[in-house]
Amino acid sequence: MKTGIIGYGSMGRMLLWKFAESGIAKQDLYAFNRTIEKLDEAKDIAKIVPAKELAASCDITFVCVRPADIKTVLEEIKDDIKEGALIVSLNGSVSFEAIGSITDTKTAKVIPSLTAEIGRSQTLVCYNGKVNDEDKTALKGLLSSIGNVIELPENEMGMGSELVSCMPGFIASIFDVICSSAKKHTSIPDDQIVRMVLQTMSATGDLMLQKDMTFEDVVKRVATPGGITEEGTKVVYEGFPETADLLFEKTLEKRRQTAAKNS
Ligand SMILES: NC(=O)c1ccc[n+]([C@@H]2O[C@H](COP(=O)([O-])OP(=O)(O)OC[C@H]3O[C@@H](n4cnc5c(N)ncnc54)[C@H](OP(=O)(O)O)[C@@H]3O)[C@@H](O)[C@H]2O)c1
Repeated sequence: MKTGIIGYGSMGRMLLWKFAESGIAKQDLYAFNRTIEKLDEAKDIAKIVPAKELAASCDITFVCVRPADIKTVLEEIKDDIKEGALIVSLNGSVSFEAIGSITDTKTAKVIPSLTAEIGRSQTLVCYNGKVNDEDKTALKGLLSSIGNVIELPENEMGMGSELVSCMPGFIASIFDVICSSAKKHTSIPDDQIVRMVLQTMSATGDLMLQKDMTFEDVVKRVATPGGITEEGTKVVYEGFPETADLLFEKTLEKRRQTAAKNS
């Protein structure tokens, strides 16, 4: 099976190198980018060919470009796509309907998260009606090299993306705020504060997953009634819901606008 990547930015680069690391040989791995020089560093792991040649050769082609560029790429390759091949869009906001107005090929949407870098992506996937079980197995096999694969219906890809793909950014910004606030109250060096919080955050996630604990379980175990932790958790439960609601309102609205622009 031959796999191709069009667009060698943040996502395309990550996928190309992860696929190569997973054992896909150079003769089965193809890549193209608009600024072709960027691919110099990948010439030992992939065949660098024009987009049309890539689409004509590959059984699965990942289109890893921004939403505004997806139509341009699809228009360019639509007449060359290998018969029976699967086209994979990495954007959750461009609908199958919009893609289908350019090419009626088998299409999937795949949303990886940044944590794919350490093989722990929660990758979302959905398919149009033409994709068969064999295609799904092949795609899931490829994606297992970057972490877990979660299948969702197309209409849930937006909120799903907020929960896995945007979430590293949300988590980082929340803990950035917490660390900045902590710095005002201590002489512990900044980098040590960040390390202490990060290690505790990561261990709390692993603890919950390994011991099958809920958020409530963790809060109950740490925040003894009348104690110090409870003072802090009360502040979070009283003040943070409004911010969280606003966050999803804003991101989902932005997603609707992007979808409308690219429909
Ligand atoms: N970043 C994330 O965490 C993330 C997560 C999930 C999904 N996504 C989605 O993945 C897609 C790609 O995102 P990204 O962050 O990887 O974007 P990016 O870093 O901006 O990379 C986009 C790449 O596409 C190339 N490109 C643009 N038009 C092209 C064309 N006509 N032919 C060939 N290559 C072309 C660009 O080439 P140049 O070098 O010429 O600019 C650039 O290398 C987006 O739809 C995004 O929504 C991103």
